[in-house]
Amino acid sequence: PLVLHVLGARPNFVKAAPVVRALGELGVRQGIIHTGQHYDALMSDVFFADLGLPEPVANLAVGSGTHARQTAALLVGLEDVFLAQEPDLVVVYGDVNSTLAAILVAAKLGIRTAHVEAGLRSFDRGMPEEVNRVVTDALADLLFVTSPEALAYLASEGVPPAKVHLVGNPMIDSLFAALPALDPAPVVARLGLPSRYAVATLHRPANVDTAEAARELVEAVLEVSRRTPVVVPVHPRGKARLAEAGLVDGETIKVIEPLGYVDFLSLVRGAALVVTDSGGVQEETTMLGVPCLTLRPNTERPITITHGTNRLVTPALLPAAAEKALADGAATPAGELPVMWDGKAGPRIATVIAAWLKGDNLAP
Ligand code: UD1
Ligand code: UDP
Repeated sequence: PLVLHVLGARPNFVKAAPVVRALGELGVRQGIIHTGQHYDALMSDVFFADLGLPEPVANLAVGSGTHARQTAALLVGLEDVFLAQEPDLVVVYGDVNSTLAAILVAAKLGIRTAHVEAGLRSFDRGMPEEVNRVVTDALADLLFVTSPEALAYLASEGVPPAKVHLVGNPMIDSLFAALPALDPAPVVARLGLPSRYAVATLHRPANVDTAEAARELVEAVLEVSRRTPVVVPVHPRGKARLAEAGLVDGETIKVIEPLGYVDFLSLVRGAALVVTDSGGVQEETTMLGVPCLTLRPNTERPITITHGTNRLVTPALLPAAAEKALADGAATPAGELPVMWDGKAGPRIATVIAAWLKGDNLAP
């Protein structure tokens, strides 16, 4: 049997690496299809190197576009690949457009599918990711969930429990694997940062797609930088608009290219504070015990608030929240680390998939 993993965007690579490794250890025949949704070296290649991911067997080079255009290109490209390669299982990750397109094409071709990181819900259909999550979970044959509340959400949407497996968080597996290599000192020295600094990442459409939202956000981040230096590795999506809104290199603010995985997490590990709108970064700060302020009205990862170091803030509340977090020092997570965030999600997923491929554990 052949398993194909469809990956397209930065967070997909991080989630897939432990699954690919664990399936490899079980001797499962597999390949990576890179859709090319993310294509800059710092959004893609660096992750293959840092995470030890094997070279893709195909790259569809779909590139950027509106949702319809990008998704259309993904659908056409993936159909050709699936017809040619005849996979027995297609594995998709997270909630990006590549995830949505792959599950749709596979479902129409009658190819079985697995969704890694199923059941997350922000209940905000204004987020493109939420649309992708709901559709992907409705179509997947095997659903791997990272946190218990997802089980109830999926049940309430009518997903048969037999399809659903609580396995922990593969993004945290990657973090565990990288941990020995995460040393803030070299990257702090290279960027000329003092020992106490904050890291900010911003890329949600609601935050960076309009001049008004960007201005409000940038003002809040600049305010934080007056208290402690802030380094901002800028996602290409927000680059122009954030710069227009005043996010430019300065005395206390460092605006840099996206960082590779090991450099970025090294920087986060040494940070006094993280300000973000990223999904994955909310989880990584939870595990690293670094205070995290999330510039969003909601999160599909509430466990990072109940069991971690995360808090939701508005731009208006950010400066005061940052001041408090900095004064409090190292964050104490709100509880025990989430269940099964132990670095073993990849092997759990691989075990279920391998049994499923043998027909021992066919989902209904
Ligand atoms: C995508 C995901 C989002 C995820 C994010 C992770 C969707 C709908 N969104 O958002 O859920 O959090 O990836 O980073 O799938 N661009 C480049 N170089 C690249 C890639 C993108 O310059 O390598 C620029 C292009 O101008 C592009 C824009 O970024 O139009 C947005 O890229 P896109 O893949 O559409 O969505 P992201 O915002 O990256
Ligand atoms: N990340 C990185 N370099 C950066 C910013 C983020 O390596 O400059 C990593 C981060 O550690 C996490 C993943 O990229 O593993 C998250 O991706 P992103 O925030 O783009 O997407 P989201 O999680 O919001 O979908």
